[in-house]
Amino acid sequence: MVKLTNTLYAKLALCLTVIFLIVGSLSANMLFNASTAHQRLVTQHLHCDLAKLVNKEYKLFNDAGLDLDAAKMIFMKLMVLGPNFEFYVLNPEGQVLAYSADPSVVKRKQVDLAPLKYFMDSKKIDSPILGDNPRSLEQKKIFSAAPIVKDDQVIGYLYVILGSDIFDAFYESLSESKMLRSGFWLVISSLCFGLLASLVVISLITRPLRKLSKSIQQARDEGFTKEGGRNASLTLQGWDQNSRNEIHVLGSSFKALLERLEEQYQQVITIDDLRKELLTHISHDLRTPLASLLGYLETWTLNHKTIPIEKSEQYIDIATRNAQKIANLIEQLFELAHLDSGNVQVNRETFSVAELAQDVLQKFTIEAQQKHIVLSVEPKDTSILVKGDIEKLERVFTNLIENALRHTPVDGSVTVRLSKNGHFVAIDVEDTGIGIPQEDIPHIFNAHFKAGNSVRGNSAHGGIGLAITKKIIDLHQSEISVTSHVDRGTTFSFMLPFGN
Ligand SMILES: Nc1ncnc2c1ncn2[C@@H]1O[C@H](COP(=O)(O)OP(=O)(O)OP(=O)(O)O)[C@@H](O)[C@H]1O
Ligand SMILES: [Mg+2]
Repeated sequence: MVKLTNTLYAKLALCLTVIFLIVGSLSANMLFNASTAHQRLVTQHLHCDLAKLVNKEYKLFNDAGLDLDAAKMIFMKLMVLGPNFEFYVLNPEGQVLAYSADPSVVKRKQVDLAPLKYFMDSKKIDSPILGDNPRSLEQKKIFSAAPIVKDDQVIGYLYVILGSDIFDAFYESLSESKMLRSGFWLVISSLCFGLLASLVVISLITRPLRKLSKSIQQARDEGFTKEGGRNASLTLQGWDQNSRNEIHVLGSSFKALLERLEEQYQQVITIDDLRKELLTHISHDLRTPLASLLGYLETWTLNHKTIPIEKSEQYIDIATRNAQKIANLIEQLFELAHLDSGNVQVNRETFSVAELAQDVLQKFTIEAQQKHIVLSVEPKDTSILVKGDIEKLERVFTNLIENALRHTPVDGSVTVRLSKNGHFVAIDVEDTGIGIPQEDIPHIFNAHFKAGNSVRGNSAHGGIGLAITKKIIDLHQSEISVTSHVDRGTTFSFMLPFGN
């Protein structure tokens, strides 16, 4: 059982949730920082001249120098502006001399003057300028500042912190209670919605993949059956090879692969069955001449001293013929095995096909004369040249003519007919014999098949001749076909390329 967390969907969903959480919190954080910076910039911008104006309206020094008492009085008055501002008087070194805040909350006696100078020198504020907040040892705040000038001499600075602690506390409580909370929920709900939508989309996208993997598993469990039951590839229906969807293409490719495997499996099964069948038939076919051979030899051994010499010669002659048949059969089997091995060389040369046919017919003259069968080549045109392996094609003609002669009754004919057909020469081996029953025709090229009306005589015909013939014709990239009518005759046809 596959663990749920190991599924592709679960992994994708987990990754997506983590990504959503990270992106969500990062963007919320960035949004918050940006809005804070913006709010600071706007506030600083609005009040950038505040220190300068106060400096202009109120006199913060007397003849002795900075007037701290007057400053405190002024600061008290300015408190009416609200808790948003805190006023400080600094000496030229940045030391805090007077302030509007409660003394207990002022923690810093000295502020850094660099940001103040930068503020006073700036003509335009592009981003909030932060200065030390005297109420805290770490915190920085936006401010307004102006120099206090007496007799053209800077005797101190008026430093106004914008957005005092009271204001901050109020702002924070306000944001926490309303804005932030609603913003927070907005972010959470949009994140959840986005996440849910993505999960649904992923589920839709991975659904065909799940279906495919289920089908593949089913195909694997069912496997291939020798009996040709429900084929494994049937479980993979409905995948479109021409789809733009890669999963569909994958599915259909997998189906094609399975079909190919099934085909090969069936081929292997068939070959295996044929091999077993062949072996049974061969042993059977070898047994008859072998038994005869042994029988005659034994009889001869027992009686050769008492029987006349003619009888003795007859026994030996029969034994020799039987041995010859066994040798022929074995040779045929070796030839078939060699052709089956796949590394057979075809030595193509140009030759006269009529001459070759005539030579082969010549070998059967005596047999034909005995049965009053006419052997002929039509036309006897030795100029018709073909290209092929002469030795192997001689075997083809021998097999076909031998079969024709054997299956043709007396007073018949066997004809090798040649005709030109485009770039090829069509060769027909015709006979006026007993024919082959229609139902046997599809099987006659199978090794060891013999038609129901086959003429075997007393010889050991293994039914291998046509199997060898077909393989040789295949090696010439051609095809052999047969037309036959029972009691009227049979024609085997194949083509060979012109030799010139
Ligand atoms: N010209 C033909 N007329 C009628 N039947 C034929 C003819 N040629 C072949 N056959 C049938 O096809 C079968 C297969 O032929 P094939 O040549 O393969 O085997 P065979 O002649 O029986 O044995 P082998 O060729 O091994 O000596 C034959 O047994 C026969 O039944
Ligand atoms: Mg034969």
